[in-house]
Amino acid sequence: VHPGWPARVGPLRVRAGRVTLRPIRLRDAAVWSRLRIENREDLEPWEPTGQASWADRHHVTAWPGLCSSLRAEARRGRMLPMVIDVDGSFRGQITVGNIVRGALFSAWIGYWVDKSVSGHGVATAALALGLDHCFGPMGLHRVEATVRPENLASRAVLQHVGFREEGLLRRYLDVDGQWRDHLLVAMTVEEVPGSVSDRLVRAGRASWA
Ligand code: ACO
Repeated sequence: VHPGWPARVGPLRVRAGRVTLRPIRLRDAAVWSRLRIENREDLEPWEPTGQASWADRHHVTAWPGLCSSLRAEARRGRMLPMVIDVDGSFRGQITVGNIVRGALFSAWIGYWVDKSVSGHGVATAALALGLDHCFGPMGLHRVEATVRPENLASRAVLQHVGFREEGLLRRYLDVDGQWRDHLLVAMTVEEVPGSVSDRLVRAGRASWA
């Protein structure tokens, strides 16, 4: 058993509703498939290139295998694959990956949100909750994220929760069919007196639900 898995995190309230995080589960197949297919245009420019077609990779039958392998990684303490619920409904995902302990105690974090609720603070609240879970129950020291410079909405989200820019990773990741530059941003626990959620509430971007 690893600290921080499985767990429910939140809630925080934003304009879109009450945001909570919970572990992914097998019965998310239908809603996951529908939202991933509906949001293709907004997701594809920012996500790693896949081998199969978008439709095949996001068919409802692709979920059980994906979900099981992510949950197996979570049990080994290497990942944290969570669903972002808004008012109890699946509205996106937030994933912590490459959790390394030893002298690093570090991981990356990434997310996506359904366009039907975008622009209403959901990703910002989910990221704050995710970071507090990483620095709290999981005991990590550093969390980083990478984002394409062109992804202005995601850069705004990263900035709202207090990520610091560390540099430009050139031709870092195969995204949307090409090697793409990514900005590296990071945060260490020393930079978070109190909690990230607390900071968000004090900045007027969320409230305790
Ligand atoms: N230029 C500048 N700012 C923008 C733009 C734009 N074109 N579009 C949106 N924004 C701002 C919004 O105004 C808002 O800031 P504000 O609260 O100060 O007004 C902010 O971006 C978005 O904040 P939220 O509402 O909390 O975010 P949302 O729930 O809409 O989710 C997300 C944002 C995750 C980027 C969503 O649009 C999405 O899923 N996009 C596709 C996938 C993706 O890009 N994922 C992130 C990859 S990078 C990573 O995971 C580290």
